[in-house]
Amino acid sequence: MATIVSIGSGKGGVGKSVIAANLAMLLAKRGKRVVLADLDVGGADAHILFGLLNPLRTLTDFVERRVERLEEVLQPISAHPFLQLLPGTGDTLATANLPYAKKKRLIRHFSQLQADVIIADIGAGTSYHALDFFLMADRYLTVATPDPTSVLDLYRFIKLAAIRRVLSAFLSRDAVSEALSDRDFSSIDDVIQAVGETDPNAKETASRTLQGFQPNLIVNRVSGKSRVNVLQLKKLLKEYVGGDLTMLGEIPDDPAMTRAVRSYLPVVEFEPTAPASVALNTAADALLAELARPAMIPAESAASPERAA
Ligand SMILES: Nc1ncnc2c1ncn2[C@@H]1O[C@H](COP(=O)(O)OP(=O)(O)O)[C@@H](O)[C@H]1O
Ligand SMILES: [Mg+2]
Repeated sequence: MATIVSIGSGKGGVGKSVIAANLAMLLAKRGKRVVLADLDVGGADAHILFGLLNPLRTLTDFVERRVERLEEVLQPISAHPFLQLLPGTGDTLATANLPYAKKKRLIRHFSQLQADVIIADIGAGTSYHALDFFLMADRYLTVATPDPTSVLDLYRFIKLAAIRRVLSAFLSRDAVSEALSDRDFSSIDDVIQAVGETDPNAKETASRTLQGFQPNLIVNRVSGKSRVNVLQLKKLLKEYVGGDLTMLGEIPDDPAMTRAVRSYLPVVEFEPTAPASVALNTAADALLAELARPAMIPAESAASPERAA
């Protein structure tokens, strides 16, 4: 089974797609069979980063059942034998009628691809679709820049993802799920209280689900004067959702990145010794180390530990 790493962020334009593309390339270079999957709900563009302007097939062909097997959508990229792309398109994932179970099924197809790692570019934002796809992965990676607005949006994203993760632990249970499905929650406490009304064991389940929530973070476009107070962010996260944040790397703001995008190549290929490329290599090693650790507990198993065994 392939390990799925999802990449999300609160805000667009922070560098998710370029980081996804470069990490995918670097893991392939380190001998992993990698699929870069473009699940960006709003603006799929990973194919463009590789100069593939009009992909022959896209994820839409699979979602709309024009092709039977997900493998048929895979495209080779950058002439690297271990790297393949699953191009996404336009708004299909946002507009397709995809209830939770169907999303889950789609992700199961992903994990059954012949690959070691699937890097899934989820796109920005906190729509249910984006959060669900983000959370269905085995590992979570978030990206933010040091801008105060980006950090704030990251915090919001992580908070809503944590809430959604707790909710999804109950989504398969009918009574609870019905009580929760059409409501908006602003805090974990709200969720736990609502769940507690229908399920007395909810509190324990929720806290187990939250402990298993361990997003990783890459800070992108770091420059001398702009740094994120990562310790502060970790502390907030711990206090608010109980989960842990692991720092995977800091990528400097580097004009080589823009030159690489304009040349339709990952910067690690285009200018391997540029500062951004060096930092991306360090981040890829950190990601590999992360992948070697035991996986997080899936939300559904946290809800019923007997099934997790
Ligand atoms: N470290 C960096 N240094 C300089 N420019 C960057 C860096 N990271 C990203 N960019 C620029 O930001 C643009 C947007 O990045 P992209 O990955 O498309 O963002 P997202 O997927 O989060 O919307 C890129 O095309 C690139 O020009
Ligand atoms: Mg993007």
